[in-house]
Amino acid sequence: MRQKWTSKIGIIMAVAGSAIGLGNFLRFPSQAAQNGGGAFMIPYFIALFLLGIPLMWIEWAIGRYGGLFGHGTAPLIFNRLWQHRASKYFGAIGVFGPLMIFIYYVYIESWLLGYSFYSLKGTFQALKTKEQVIGFLQSYQGMGSNNIFIYAYLFFLITFIANFFIIYKGVKGGIEKLCNIALPILFFFAIVILIRVFTLKTPVTEHPGWNVLNGFGFMWNPDFSALKNAKVWLAASGQILFTLSVGIGVIITYASYLSKGDDIVLSGLTASSLNEFAEVILGGSIVIPLAFAFFGGLGAQEVAKSGSFNIGFVSMPLIFSKIGYGMIFSFMWFFLLFLAGITSSISLLEPTVAFLSDDLGISRKRAVSIIAIFSFIICQFPIFFLSRGVVDEIDFWAGSFFLVVFALAECILFVWIFGIDKAWDEIHHGAELNIPKFYKFIIKYITPLFLIFILSFWFFQQAVPCFFLKGVPKENVPYILTTRIGFVTIFILIAFLVRKAYRAKLKGQKR
Ligand code: ALA
Repeated sequence: MRQKWTSKIGIIMAVAGSAIGLGNFLRFPSQAAQNGGGAFMIPYFIALFLLGIPLMWIEWAIGRYGGLFGHGTAPLIFNRLWQHRASKYFGAIGVFGPLMIFIYYVYIESWLLGYSFYSLKGTFQALKTKEQVIGFLQSYQGMGSNNIFIYAYLFFLITFIANFFIIYKGVKGGIEKLCNIALPILFFFAIVILIRVFTLKTPVTEHPGWNVLNGFGFMWNPDFSALKNAKVWLAASGQILFTLSVGIGVIITYASYLSKGDDIVLSGLTASSLNEFAEVILGGSIVIPLAFAFFGGLGAQEVAKSGSFNIGFVSMPLIFSKIGYGMIFSFMWFFLLFLAGITSSISLLEPTVAFLSDDLGISRKRAVSIIAIFSFIICQFPIFFLSRGVVDEIDFWAGSFFLVVFALAECILFVWIFGIDKAWDEIHHGAELNIPKFYKFIIKYITPLFLIFILSFWFFQQAVPCFFLKGVPKENVPYILTTRIGFVTIFILIAFLVRKAYRAKLKGQKR
């Protein structure tokens, strides 16, 4: 008997927990700052309505549909939508991708636990300049003079074990329970910090223009010329997929634990809205305005460029070291991020666990142990070779590129091969809300065309330099190549298991 969510709130919180993550509070501000600040928000919202929300409904529907046949992951569900031998291999991305994201995500998540600890210890109160904070971050990441990396590794171990413990406890006793507790705490902490941000004036007196208000201006003032830059479109669309956790495969798995008549239209929309509130209102109003107030516009962009996730680790400790009760605010910030991270990372693990148990007949307990050992080994790579660009490399492929490929595959399979009318009915089955009719047109034409456009554009403009590692420092090349070889090897392994699962299913049907 497959597991089920205990309530509608349970799945909404779990999906919102998966969606609200490091992407909202760290990746989003970093992407926005690197892609023109306010200009980024135009393609961002367009991508939300044309890609994010339609794909959210598609994944909920595909997942619930698959769950009825006892499948919780894309490979065999895709095969049901399109009975062709190739379909299951597209589905394999939905098992491979989340696990690959988990590999670096859990490590960054562990920094948040570490930084929560250092906040309470008062470490950041002693760091008064940007250089000092960057120095601490680099030492923590194993690239500095101070030997605190050993503690970073300890926090990684704690975080890693916590993830597997929750997953081991299952859908109801682990995932649902954690999200029901973690999300309210997260929102509470974020709102308290937000109020503090709004009441901050000009922290760097010699730069009166650097203040939170201008920071909001920097974040929100639209520059329509950015719409001409395809790179901004790519970044915005990639961020929408990443933040909503669509195109990854995790929503399919979560939705597979629904029952046939459960609503998905309103639930999907609610989870997405919670995510957008957390990203745009909370995520967008904290890091960037603060970074602006402390470093100015150029400075904020510079920090954002230093690594996808660095901005929150640099700007935030610095500001907290300069305000009253900074220790408490700092703890609240990093701990809320840790909660956001863990409710997402467990969702990244669930597809692999579901695949091994649903389709390969391995018990959940054993599946969790196998994946724990496997991923623990692989995690060492981003941990020890972070300075070689390994995290950014995995983030690009698993956290951006494959999201678009997988989203396109699921969209075409569901809407074009399974058929838009059946798909529309499937989405509306048990629905408490009717989706406006024009969305049928969007889901059928605009969403896939949008995804095709993104992929084509990437191929024409970036594929060659990307394949030939243009711009990668010479000393990093062997590490990036090894990462890519590792990627291909793991994908082949998963594809092999998918084939095995498919054969077992065929055998079962014959009997
Ligand atoms: N959706 C998750 C995040 O934003 C992966 O971090």
